[in-house]
Amino acid sequence: MKWLAALALALPAIVSASPQGIDVSNWQGTVNWGAVKANGVQFAYIKATEGTGYKSPSFNSQYIGATNAGLIRGSYHFARPDVSSGATQANYFLANGGGWSADGITLPGALDIEYNPYGATCYGLSASSMVAWITDFSNTYHTKTGRYPVIYTTTDWWKTCTGNASGFQNNNPLWIAHYASAIGELPAGYAYTTFWQFANSGSNGPGDQDLFNGDTAGLQRMAKGS
Ligand SMILES: *[C@@H]1O[C@H](CO)[C@@H](O)[C@H](O)[C@H]1NC(C)=O
Repeated sequence: MKWLAALALALPAIVSASPQGIDVSNWQGTVNWGAVKANGVQFAYIKATEGTGYKSPSFNSQYIGATNAGLIRGSYHFARPDVSSGATQANYFLANGGGWSADGITLPGALDIEYNPYGATCYGLSASSMVAWITDFSNTYHTKTGRYPVIYTTTDWWKTCTGNASGFQNNNPLWIAHYASAIGELPAGYAYTTFWQFANSGSNGPGDQDLFNGDTAGLQRMAKGS
């Protein structure tokens, strides 16, 4: 029984019937999307932008490759609340691959808001300023596309840097990063997550490994905005 438990721990993806995904950035470079699709992967998120001065040099080719392989795909923006406003960064994201349309194959853009890799964990913002920054990004994205962005984060960062803020569950689908066999506590207000990044490598393909919390029809509805 011991090995069975270990297997279940290592392979949450296989014990779930949920649609599988990956997310990639410039680190993954050229992706063999045909192989990813052949692994049974149904969706992908691709890093487009960061702050207001970085567009991933791999974004265009990765996005086109995922599209041509028949994946449902979307793009994400790495938030830098220390460099410019939420509205400025939403507009930069939208101008550089972050758009959304109800074509049935595009997931709403995601805001990757998490530990600052360059300095202070919360980017030097107070909890209330952080909540305002995220709201500004979200509202700008919604005004331009008709969709609210997905929020990618960890529960620990969210508690630390937003003061455990609640309310975003009313608009923003959640994409939680938690590398464990169980999803654990979610950010305040969220009763469920929409996506779960459960590992930073695995058999789905290159990059982080993700699950959609639903079935294929639900994933398709999410892409249509219906
Ligand atoms: C965060 O918010 C949730 C829901 O309101 C609450 O249950 C929890 O105790 C809060 N945690 C902290 C650390 O404040």
